[in-house]
Amino acid sequence: MSDRFKENFLFGSASAAYQVEGAYQEDGKGISIWDNWVKIDGKTFRGTNGEVAADHYHRFKEDVMLMKEMGLKAYRFSVSWTRILPDGKGGIEKKGLDFYEELIDELIRNDIEPVLTIYHWDLPQKLQDEYEGWESRQIIDDFAAYAKVLFEAFSGKVKYWIINNEPNIFTQLGYLMELHPPGKKDMATYLKTYHHTALAHAKVVKIFKEGGYSGFIGSSIAYTPGYSASDSEEDKEALRRYYETVNWWIMDIYYKGEYPKWGFKEFTRRGIAPEVTEEDMVLLKEAASLADFIGINYYQSATLANNPVDGVSLGEFNVTGEKGNFKESGVPGLYRQVYNPNLEYTDWDWAIDPDGLRHALVEITERYHKPILISENGIGAFDEIEDEKIHDDYRIEYIRSHIRACHDAIEEGVDLWGYCTWSFTDLLSWLNGYQKRYGFVFIDFEKNDLPRIKKDSFEFYKEVIRTRGQNCMNEENL
Ligand code: BG6
Repeated sequence: MSDRFKENFLFGSASAAYQVEGAYQEDGKGISIWDNWVKIDGKTFRGTNGEVAADHYHRFKEDVMLMKEMGLKAYRFSVSWTRILPDGKGGIEKKGLDFYEELIDELIRNDIEPVLTIYHWDLPQKLQDEYEGWESRQIIDDFAAYAKVLFEAFSGKVKYWIINNEPNIFTQLGYLMELHPPGKKDMATYLKTYHHTALAHAKVVKIFKEGGYSGFIGSSIAYTPGYSASDSEEDKEALRRYYETVNWWIMDIYYKGEYPKWGFKEFTRRGIAPEVTEEDMVLLKEAASLADFIGINYYQSATLANNPVDGVSLGEFNVTGEKGNFKESGVPGLYRQVYNPNLEYTDWDWAIDPDGLRHALVEITERYHKPILISENGIGAFDEIEDEKIHDDYRIEYIRSHIRACHDAIEEGVDLWGYCTWSFTDLLSWLNGYQKRYGFVFIDFEKNDLPRIKKDSFEFYKEVIRTRGQNCMNEENL
């Protein structure tokens, strides 16, 4: 392979409705679980919320202009369910559809491929109130009906569809770690809700294919490849258990249509395995073969060690950005995630590991034999503004090394369709507020007019796109 990515490679960038749009009560939008969660004391970093966010709802044209200036090939955004169906089901709000239609048209006019995420965590509060949202199988039909509204409205214009964003994260944080709404802490509920997300995904894949809509469909999983902390038999066994109960668990049910055997037995033994019917299996198998691609969000790797039955549990995250607060966490009797002295860490104690991305892409290809779209990758950092400039060389280095890892993976046989950074403009980080920044475009959230300022990484990524990644291949091109 040459040192350039192929011409149709999608060098993109991503966002999510709640994190950028703002306008949370405008144009008939209904209330989502996040609109309420942020109002509860102590749930988010210093009470930050997405009520205004980057005001993308009003300023999307300006943002798309910047994307155009950069030469961005793809923009991944999510639709806010409650803008379309304020009650989660039933009446459609036309103004909501109009907003996304305008955004999509604006992108297409500027040669930017829209990549539409159907669900990025902002569940309609009404569905939470009526039947506890993801805890009930009723969500599957409502989710499918919502997706169908989007297919009917935008198919033909949107080619790339991501059904579910990181279902493993929102169920883990929402049902096991009490960090996201609805704030529960129960392993069985986490496993049950995850199973329901897989069924919703599967049903939507089928509707898409049977409806003959054109384009490509999949879901995006947050994938954290693992290494064993040492060569000891115990640590190697912990790694295996991590794959059986985490990585293969979350991926297999979406992309193989079954759960890994050892993992399922183990959760059954613990009395927490989800209920899986024969009908579920048929649907899941079918959808697994029909899905066109696997969406992967990659930020970091995990290093695993033995965790005794009275060992550590899943703990808290560093949400302050005070580096050095990495805490071991895990599932007793299965695995424990430990600090890796061979890797650099971000201020939020996330391991920086470009080779982990290559490793992940290769192992996913070997197991599922499907094309991959990287739907998120990036570094959250404190960016300093000096004389209207932001010298975010750490972000340039992070992205450059991860693009290089993509190139290496392609050379190893991975069918990689694209790479979306997280994120285009700065935006709200759910639990970390506005101080954890990811964008190419700095937003001064202190100022009412939310000015947009291009960071150094903006010019860098522009050059990545122009040279089709060639500027990432040599150190001297930095
Ligand atoms: C992913 C999500 O988990 O990672 C995004 O899909 C999120 O919505 C991103 O913002 C970065 O995570 P964080 O916690 O640093 O904002």
